[in-house]
Amino acid sequence: MCGCNVETAMTAKRCSVRLLVFGASLRDGSMNDRLASLAVEVAEEKGATVERAKMSDFECPAYDMDVELATGLPSGAQALHDKLVATDGFIIASPEYNASMPGVLKNTIDWVSRFRPQPFNGKQGLLTAASPSMTGGKIGLWALRQPLEHLGARVYPDMFALAQAHRAFDDAGRIADGKLQTWFDSTIECFIDLVEASKHYPTLKKQWVEFLGEKPDDETTRVELGETAAV
Ligand SMILES: Cc1cc2nc3c(=O)[nH]c(=O)nc-3n(C[C@H](O)[C@H](O)[C@H](O)COP(=O)(O)O)c2cc1C
Repeated sequence: MCGCNVETAMTAKRCSVRLLVFGASLRDGSMNDRLASLAVEVAEEKGATVERAKMSDFECPAYDMDVELATGLPSGAQALHDKLVATDGFIIASPEYNASMPGVLKNTIDWVSRFRPQPFNGKQGLLTAASPSMTGGKIGLWALRQPLEHLGARVYPDMFALAQAHRAFDDAGRIADGKLQTWFDSTIECFIDLVEASKHYPTLKKQWVEFLGEKPDDETTRVELGETAAV
């Protein structure tokens, strides 16, 4: 039994959905962290159980295979791994840096990709961004989608990019434009319902073949097959 205020049968179903939410900026006063906080508020209103984190929880040294072989995977990567394993899906609010994702986020994704089983595989994800620009950081989200989908994450088709974010929030931390706030709410609600559905159809997608379609090679191919997938 979760602790949320169960109002409807649908809200009750959503109680079983556990989401990891974090902003991918390291700086104090980050707009993306504000958007992540708003995502937490909305997700909890809709009935989900949220694990809130910060990018600083997941910081890692620059990826280096020599370091990996000598000392193993760093604590920041371990932390993200553990939170992914403990949740059904994730919401990231990511800044856009030079039309891509922040290096700190990509670096952590690279480290986390070294775990076996690889924890992004089959995980549902929703991508959001906040930027002072007119496009809200959407180009960075297209870039972020790429490594996540490569790792088998099921990235939600809709992406919420809050344009002119330096002026977009009201004093309560909500989006001042009521229509935009409604779209944000409904996007999160639809995402939660998809995560909830995927929990009830656990065989929907199990296998991960890193270079699907390339000639199999024992030295380079990385494959994880679920119980139901054909070998
Ligand atoms: C190195 C760097 C590159 C940036 N590149 C972009 C960009 O390509 N597109 C964009 O919309 N904003 C860009 N910005 C501005 C960020 O969107 C802005 O600094 C934003 O506040 C960062 O997110 P945060 O508030 O969550 O830290 C860039 C900022 C920095 C520091």
